[in-house]
Amino acid sequence: MIEFSCVTKHYGDITAVDSVSFRVEDGQVCVLIGPSGCGKTTTLKMVNRMLDASSGEISINGRNVSELAAEQLRRGIGYVIQSVGLLPHMNVRDNIAIVQRLKRVDRRQRYRRADELLELIGLDPEQYRLKHPHELSGGEAQRIGVARALAADPPILLMDEPFGAVDPLNREVLQTEFLRLQRALKKTVLFVTHDLDEAIRLGDTVILMKDGQIVQHDSPERILAAPRNQFVRDFVGADRALKRLSCFPVEGYIREAQQIAQQDAASFSNGGRGPDSVVWVYGADRALVGMLQRSSSGYKVITLKPEEVGVVPLSSMKEALSRLLGQGIRAVPVLDQRNCVIGEVRLPDIEELNQAVL
Ligand SMILES: Nc1ncnc2c1ncn2[C@@H]1O[C@H](COP(=O)(O)OP(=O)(O)OP(=O)(O)O)[C@@H](O)[C@H]1O
Ligand SMILES: [Mg+2]
Repeated sequence: MIEFSCVTKHYGDITAVDSVSFRVEDGQVCVLIGPSGCGKTTTLKMVNRMLDASSGEISINGRNVSELAAEQLRRGIGYVIQSVGLLPHMNVRDNIAIVQRLKRVDRRQRYRRADELLELIGLDPEQYRLKHPHELSGGEAQRIGVARALAADPPILLMDEPFGAVDPLNREVLQTEFLRLQRALKKTVLFVTHDLDEAIRLGDTVILMKDGQIVQHDSPERILAAPRNQFVRDFVGADRALKRLSCFPVEGYIREAQQIAQQDAASFSNGGRGPDSVVWVYGADRALVGMLQRSSSGYKVITLKPEEVGVVPLSSMKEALSRLLGQGIRAVPVLDQRNCVIGEVRLPDIEELNQAVL
């Protein structure tokens, strides 16, 4: 558990963090959000003592961090900085294992761990371990930054806008991956972002800051449903009902999907089902290839690209809605890792969720 008690940080005359108190429970993700300059990075850096508080106390599992040796403290804390900070002359494997090298962990063990982490973040070790940072996309570099922070398996992660430099589409992919990792690893995470959708999707709790102070610390749903004052209302914006969809993963709304093998599509008869239901079509390897559409001469197959229409169980309902609107279909397929259809999300369910009383 991380606990801040009345923590203040001055830089000369500037009060960057002003008497802040909050707690992050073990295994939870707490997201700090707020306008530029409100004190998010300063708050984060005081946890691993890259900065020392001017007053107040920060403790980890009941121990005051100012009484711990900085080096020992940092061993238990992974840190992901916004600019990723990969060393350009080192390959991916050495970048990931850099701290372990400093700790003189033997090479074989370091390399094994680096490969393990590449697998974990969804990059093929064969393909990536010897690449250099300039050979990576922005999103891949961000993932390597996360892998490096996880290398020593620290119980606590500090993440300062880890996906900030990534375009919106890739950012959603990284967020989904983060949720998947977090489910498996259950780290205690303090996460900084500028992006409200990201905050409500990833946070168990969200802290909205302004001028170094906490304005509201609440669950994502409460931040949207019950903004404490005008500042929060303005920050959250007019479309908070829609934003709320980001709080819900698709997995709670999966319906059974009707699907058919490609070679049987020609002889399909809808068996009395309504014309609105979607029939997904799969190919030889059972992966999604398209959907059936009724035409004057019976049914024909519309080809679909799984990565363009599909969502995964950890996608948000907001993502499902945007896929659905983007494709103009009544349901989106929920896919497993091999692009096989495991169910679908339907528009009426999204509408109902959206209309549920805030
Ligand atoms: N080393 C420093 N010396 C003096 N003032 C600083 C220093 N670092 C930060 N500040 C000031 O402290 C305040 C908080 O900065 P901080 O970096 O914590 O903000 P932030 O919320 O992370 O902003 P951003 O969203 O832009 O990253 C700002 O007013 C900033 O100008
Ligand atoms: Mg910052």
